[in-house]
Amino acid sequence: MPQDDQTLDATAVPDAPSYVPPQALTLRINGAEHQLNIEPRVTLLDALREVTHLTGTKKGCDRGQCGACTVLVDGQRINSCLTLAVMHDGREITTVEGLAHEGEPHPMQQAFMDCDGFQCGYCTPGQLCSAVALLDEVKQHQASALTEGQQLEPGQLSDDEIRERMSGNLCRCGAYPNIVKAIRSVVLRQA
Ligand code: FES
Ligand code: FES
Repeated sequence: MPQDDQTLDATAVPDAPSYVPPQALTLRINGAEHQLNIEPRVTLLDALREVTHLTGTKKGCDRGQCGACTVLVDGQRINSCLTLAVMHDGREITTVEGLAHEGEPHPMQQAFMDCDGFQCGYCTPGQLCSAVALLDEVKQHQASALTEGQQLEPGQLSDDEIRERMSGNLCRCGAYPNIVKAIRSVVLRQA
């Protein structure tokens, strides 16, 4: 029994949440400015796919478990299904469509092709964005669960380190060995 006089009324219907109108925002995606007018509840993933029609970024779980929706925001990888588009007004977003440069694939894209780092390809855009960010994180001496206080250079990345740092990106085809091989080949070229 509640201590005070408050009683719960099971028949009470809470007020419907008030309508929140679309908001104007600017997303810089792959170097191009996009002026959008969207409801604040729209995720960055849905804004990319449904509003700007950049469908390279994939929706796997829509709940932060698979990494298929990974994009870079100001160079940092995030799950775009777990964040709202309105939170990124004015930020620089890179999707898989923005990795290539002047018609040439990004070295990581080339390595995935050379090493057969995919089968169906559904997870690949997220894997690529994660792998590109991974190398920058190591260059900035960011730790992983395995780093144990060492400041690793990219050339010192073990396969276990690569696996740990890519553990947020699942591949239901099980292309993991060749994904690690692809990342390792880029690491070796940059060492
Ligand atoms: S779709 Fe975002 S983590 Fe799976
Ligand atoms: S290549 Fe099919 S899910 Fe990864």
